[in-house]
Amino acid sequence: MADKAQRLWHPFADMSRIPGHELVLARGEGCWLWDDVGRRYLDVTAGLWFANVGHGRAEIADAAAAQLRSLAAYSIFDRYANEPALALADRLAAIAPIEDAAVFFTSGGSDSVDTAAKMARRYWQLRGHTERTVIVARTNAYHGMHGFGTALAGIPGNAAGWGQIMPDVLHVPHDDHTALAAVFAQHGTKIAAVIGEPVIAAGGVYPPVEGYWKQVRALCDEYDTLLIADEVVTGYGRLGSWFASDLFEIRPDLVTTAKGLTSGYLPLGAVLVGPRVRDELWSAGAGMFRHGYTYSGHAAACAAALSNLDILEHEDLAAQVRRLTPVLAAELDSLRGLPAVREVRHVGLLGAVQLAQPEQTDTLVARLRERGMLLRGLVGHSIQISPPFVITETELRKFAAVLAEELTELGRDHAA
Ligand SMILES: Cc1ncc(COP(=O)(O)O)c(C=O)c1O
Repeated sequence: MADKAQRLWHPFADMSRIPGHELVLARGEGCWLWDDVGRRYLDVTAGLWFANVGHGRAEIADAAAAQLRSLAAYSIFDRYANEPALALADRLAAIAPIEDAAVFFTSGGSDSVDTAAKMARRYWQLRGHTERTVIVARTNAYHGMHGFGTALAGIPGNAAGWGQIMPDVLHVPHDDHTALAAVFAQHGTKIAAVIGEPVIAAGGVYPPVEGYWKQVRALCDEYDTLLIADEVVTGYGRLGSWFASDLFEIRPDLVTTAKGLTSGYLPLGAVLVGPRVRDELWSAGAGMFRHGYTYSGHAAACAAALSNLDILEHEDLAAQVRRLTPVLAAELDSLRGLPAVREVRHVGLLGAVQLAQPEQTDTLVARLRERGMLLRGLVGHSIQISPPFVITETELRKFAAVLAEELTELGRDHAA
């Protein structure tokens, strides 16, 4: 009998190698997942850094279902609104790391990045500085895969192979404020905005060096440039505060978010916009901001987000992240010195182990999967560790013990 034809095209996959090897997930509860034949796995990455409150939350499903029954969605273009979108905008403004923020809803992180980039450029157009079009991004950056995000990508493999998407992008080495100062000295008057992830995530999990973000803010102030914090991964509690901008005192003008906003129960993103940009774009005479998405402010997605925020607050999951932070740190630090390990990095409930032999990354991911633990490789040399906030200390330590065993084994393979 002929094999069943492969119809599903997987993102970020080499499709020549997928047919016959799919892992079909069927169910999730807390930080556990089950596949279609009943095998159980620990979700060590919270899906793609989103399942922060854990899987299988009936209250989010109920909130979304109730909204789907009353009004699933209607456009919020122009004057239209819905109750969940209004309530969520108020709620996000109250926790935003920017005083007096406005909230622009999108369908996900890449949308949020496109939106923030267009807002920044529109801001300068309206101010009469049409020359200010350049956006400065950083090496190892991941800002999603839309047009702007691809142009801003600092992971070389993601930026290459499409031809030039947007010319007005400059890249600087991440966490090197002197390199940024040099770019400002040369191009300062053309720079619309600097964008950065408070902690580089998909690019390998690189926490900022001490004082970096304060220096970036100071440079942005000196050259009167906007600062965009891409908090698609770090937003909504991953580092134990609502936003990493609070923790690192980034003082951004715009904040891009998604993922943890709904913990992935429905797709939704939001750009939090400070008064500087908002006042210019909302001023009489600025005209229509000709940008938005069909599902901006999707009522059921906003209802899911409200329920997700309720859970984060009622269960004080940020405190749980703060409790687990030293546990993850100690467990990862104890891996230093293993022959298979080149480096470990961590901040909050976010970590990576970089392998001495990058080509062993896929082997490690496959062996951990065989042992019932799902995670993934980053930039060809590291593994991602970003579990749901509801993981217990015991589960986290159990994972770390299995990881240590497999790394020790890899070290032996390497020596052999
Ligand atoms: C920092 C950052 N920005 C933007 C995105 C894009 O988000 P999405 O995949 O929801 O479009 C991601 C996704 O991982 C991300 O990590």
